[in-house]
Amino acid sequence: MSLSVAVAGKGGVGKTTISALLIRALCSSALRPVLAVDADPNSNLAAALGVEAGRPLADIREQGSTPEGSPPSGIGRLRAVDDQLQRAIVEADGFDLITMGRPEGPRCYCAVNHLLRHALDKLSRSYEAVVIDNEAGLEHLSRRTTNDIDFLLTVVTPTVPAIRAAERIESLAAELPIRIARRLLLVNRAIEGKIDPRIQSALARLTSHPLPSVPDDPALEELGAVGGSVFDLPEDNPSVQSMLHLVTVLQGLRRTPVV
Ligand SMILES: Nc1ncnc2c1ncn2[C@@H]1O[C@H](COP(=O)(O)OP(=O)(O)OP(=O)(O)O)[C@@H](O)[C@H]1O
Ligand SMILES: [Mg+2]
Repeated sequence: MSLSVAVAGKGGVGKTTISALLIRALCSSALRPVLAVDADPNSNLAAALGVEAGRPLADIREQGSTPEGSPPSGIGRLRAVDDQLQRAIVEADGFDLITMGRPEGPRCYCAVNHLLRHALDKLSRSYEAVVIDNEAGLEHLSRRTTNDIDFLLTVVTPTVPAIRAAERIESLAAELPIRIARRLLLVNRAIEGKIDPRIQSALARLTSHPLPSVPDDPALEELGAVGGSVFDLPEDNPSVQSMLHLVTVLQGLRRTPVV
C-alpha cells in the first residue's frame, strides 16, 4: 500500500512549498517513486518541483462530457480515460506529476469523474507514496476525485487566521466522502522564541496530531519569489532536513494503530 498525504491549509501558508519539500524527501527515501498530484486550479506545484506542468485532467473530464468528444462506451471508454491519463503524466527523476486543473463546474461530469477516479486509483498503486497539494477549499477531496488517504496534513503559519482556517478544515474533514486515517498539523514559518498567547491558545484548540514545525527560512522565501525548485536547495538546508525527519515520523505513525 502506498503512503498517501493530502496537504491542506489557508491560502499562502506554504502548502505547495511543503508538498514539494515532502516529495523531495520521499524521493530520497525508500518511498519512491512518488506520485505528485497538483489539485489546486492555480497550479504551481510543477514549478516548485522544477518540471513543466502537464495537461490538466480537467480537460480530459470535459472532453469526455461533450458529445463531440465522447469516448466510446463501456470498457472502451475506460481505456480512453486510462490512455489520456497516461498522456497527462509528467515523468521526472523519482516522481511523476499529475495536474488536476479546475474542479467541476455546475454541470455534473459524474460518469467521467467516476472513470477518472478508477484510473487514478489504479495508477496510484504503482507508486510508493502519493502527495496531493490541495487548494484551500479542499474541492477535489470533497468531490471525491481522490481515494481514501492516510494523512490529511494541514499547514498553518503561526497566525490566528491560518489557525482558524485549520479549525474549519478539521470540521470539513469529518464530512468528506473519503476516509482519512489521521489528521496532522504542521506549523510552517515557525519563529523561535516566545509565541503570542493568543496564537498559542488558538493552536491548542486544534485536534490534529502535531508534527515537528518547519522554520521560517529565507532560502524558501527566495525560492518562492523567483519560482525556483526545491531540488535546487542544498541538502543541509534546515527545511530540507526537517522534511527528511518528517518522512520518518510519517512512516512511524502509519505503523501505529489509530485509537
Ligand atoms: N518556511 C518558509 N519560510 C519562508 N518562506 C516560506 C516558507 N514556506 C513558504 N514560504 C513562502 O511563502 C509563499 C507562499 O508559499 P506557497 O505558495 O507554498 O503557499 P500555498 O499555501 O501553496 O499558497 P496558495 O494557497 O496560493 O496555493 C511562497 O513565496 C513561499 O516561498
Ligand atoms: Mg499552492
